[in-house]
Amino acid sequence: MKLGPYTSKIHTDELIELLDLWQYPKGVKEQLTKTIRANAKGIEGPHLFRYYNPRPSKVAEAECMMAGFIGTKYALAVNSCTSALITALRALGVGAGDEVIVPGYTFFASAAVIGTCNAIPVIVDVDDTLTIDPRALAKAITKRTKAIIVVHMRGMPAQMDQIMRIAKKHKIPVIEDVAQAAGGKYKGKMLGSIGTMGCFSFDYYKVLNSGEGGFVTTNDQWLLTRAQSWHDCAACWRPDRYATERKGGELFCGENYRMSELQGAVALAQIRKAPKILAGYRAAKARIIAGLDLPKGVTLQRVADPKGDTGICLILFMPDVASTKAALPALQKAGVPAGGIYDHKVKDWHVYVHWEHILTHKAVAPDGLPWTGVKKSELPKYTKDMCPQCNEYLSRAIMIDTHCEYSAADCRAIATAVNQVLGGM
Ligand SMILES: Cc1ncc(COP(=O)(O)O)c(C=O)c1O
Repeated sequence: MKLGPYTSKIHTDELIELLDLWQYPKGVKEQLTKTIRANAKGIEGPHLFRYYNPRPSKVAEAECMMAGFIGTKYALAVNSCTSALITALRALGVGAGDEVIVPGYTFFASAAVIGTCNAIPVIVDVDDTLTIDPRALAKAITKRTKAIIVVHMRGMPAQMDQIMRIAKKHKIPVIEDVAQAAGGKYKGKMLGSIGTMGCFSFDYYKVLNSGEGGFVTTNDQWLLTRAQSWHDCAACWRPDRYATERKGGELFCGENYRMSELQGAVALAQIRKAPKILAGYRAAKARIIAGLDLPKGVTLQRVADPKGDTGICLILFMPDVASTKAALPALQKAGVPAGGIYDHKVKDWHVYVHWEHILTHKAVAPDGLPWTGVKKSELPKYTKDMCPQCNEYLSRAIMIDTHCEYSAADCRAIATAVNQVLGGM
């Protein structure tokens, strides 16, 4: 009996559907559609599963490129940074009863993933860099601390020298959450290559994006192996997926965080364009700062290493809450892409005070995990004022987003508007 050959179920119609996403004008779309249909014969449709792909895999190529870009031995593609963080925590063996340190200012996902792994989030204050305060970090370490998540918030590097010194002293692995800072550096080293593992987001709003997506980076082959196991419980990544484990700890019940070839292709093109995108952001931030003439009492946020800043955002500290509250709407009215969180009535998932799920011990199942993994008396005390510096700095912060395509005139216009609004207050 001879079966097939069969054509791929995904073919011309799907490619034409994709054209819509690019919103080509009607005439162009018709022209492209005609060309695609006229040439369909003999062309095979894509194989969008990254493994067992008879053609070179875009995801595998993106992984090579990402590892080269970040300067780590390995990069593993996953479907989000949330997945990347869970994968890193699981690869490090984090589970019930463990504590993981996370800053109080970060997107909720950085903290939520700790609970997802049944571990206890220990929320630590930030300082005037709006990244984790090394002194508060040192104080938060206990015998249960299994990992530290540092976040390079708003594209700016955390204070990695101090953090790594503390982590090494206590032999605790560091996970860098580089979701917002792909391409950033600290003292010449790429973010995501300094700690034990790096986690990147390629969701739509990030420096580089594939709609959704993420990467885990590491220099440790064993951690890569465990990360691969977690991200693909079908073990398609193994040389022989059904073979017994080559070393204890290689196989366990994982999940499916695999990246599809569609995302892989977009991610690959984005990583290739990274130098241009980053140069655009950095030039925009430098130009806006050069044009600023800030009134007395208004300061720029301290950046742990200004040369390593991705430039996606600049942050001003106003003298007090009242002036912040007055300046924000005035800046927005003048067209400046400014945001801020002067009080807790402004809901924002990036600030721990709104992480009700953690603060009030919510659990997904009747077992009550992660909160039942340790004695009640040993749980951290969560209160809305437990990170006073975080609350104080954020109450006076004004964030101005940049764009990698800003022209010199755009930057001048923003700087002038900021000068006028703040100077006139
Ligand atoms: C600091 C930080 N960590 C993690 C994430 C989660 O990324 P993703 O949307 O790819 O899951 C985000 C997304 O906004 C983030 O800003």
